[in-house]
Amino acid sequence: MFSELRQRPADPILGLSVKFKADANPDKIDLGAGIYKDEQGNTPVLACVKAAEQFRVDLETTKTYINSAGSALFNEKITALNLGEHRVIDENRIRTISTPGGTGALRIAGEFIKACKPGATIWVSNPTWANHDGVFTAAGLTVKSYPYYDYENKCLNFDGMLEALKQVPADDAVLIHACCHNPSGMDLNHAQWQQIAELAKEKGFLPVVDMAYQGFGEGLEEDARGLRLLADAVDELIICSSCSKNFGLYRERIGACSVIGKSAAAADIISSVLMPTVRVNYSMPPAHGAAIVETILSSDELTAQWHVELQEMRDRIGGMRQLLVNKLVAHGVSRDFSFITRQNGMFSFLGIDKDQVKRLQDEFSIYIVGSSRISLAAVAPDNVDYLAGSIAKVL
Ligand code: LMR
Repeated sequence: MFSELRQRPADPILGLSVKFKADANPDKIDLGAGIYKDEQGNTPVLACVKAAEQFRVDLETTKTYINSAGSALFNEKITALNLGEHRVIDENRIRTISTPGGTGALRIAGEFIKACKPGATIWVSNPTWANHDGVFTAAGLTVKSYPYYDYENKCLNFDGMLEALKQVPADDAVLIHACCHNPSGMDLNHAQWQQIAELAKEKGFLPVVDMAYQGFGEGLEEDARGLRLLADAVDELIICSSCSKNFGLYRERIGACSVIGKSAAAADIISSVLMPTVRVNYSMPPAHGAAIVETILSSDELTAQWHVELQEMRDRIGGMRQLLVNKLVAHGVSRDFSFITRQNGMFSFLGIDKDQVKRLQDEFSIYIVGSSRISLAAVAPDNVDYLAGSIAKVL
């Protein structure tokens, strides 16, 4: 049975961590996976998370099953975090389930779309997160892409995006990154979101919003504005969100999939499709991460503490963007890298070629994704000089 199997390539993002761990160079830097690190290179457990975990240890009375939708309190809190006080909540048109991370949310969304329309197509940005294609293909969708990033001018190709989305048939799905676009760091501005929202309404395609970095761009509310504009405009929408980055809960695997329907009755039908989709995949989501998040979001004190810790992470990354650009100049790099300071979230495309990416890895033990995406969240005052100097050498 297994003899026909052939070795497959390592995951383009996760595979880098394996190589990084095996590298003995003390100067090595892992700029691969989007994982926040502090100035000492640690990925800390947030203090608000520690406090919430302590509450759970003290107060938890059972480990019995919950259900396929996960914790109702978490689902309510995360929906409010994503959408604010939106009318779709008052109109009882939204159904949210807890999922194993944002990836779990995307997979359930993919299978849900397939249940609506077998053989459906989902359009993703070019470029997009390296796992989108795999997740949606595995869920049974056809994946196509629309232009998004202008590689040459290091900015958004909004005209190209708009033109492509004008051709998308009604009932196809279109995946849009809510904020902190992964991998380019280039986000839509308010006016551009408005145009996309109007287009979605006019054309009838289904927006699927991937919100993996709420709070890492400009702020919790600001990062959700585009999503909320879309929810104002269209009758049907899917939101896939993640608590990996903003709560630092990576390994707890906690995210959410919210589906908005045309009416409360439609939402009940949606729910009846989501439940068996979860049941045949993993039966029920893990509970611990959801318990932490709902505890934080139910406490004014812990929420305030979380806001401070989230802002610290956001500000540190912003500071590193500027510092890296300054250091590149100091190392005599004449190419203009100032675009790095105009991007949001954890990532940036350096715009260097595959050979240069390989040289950074082979000669300097600097690990970045093959597309030349770097995670600024792992740049620190201690390693930025070595990083800038190494980039200068491979250019
Ligand atoms: C990333 O893009 O690096 C993160 O979303 C981590 C992952 O799972 O790929």
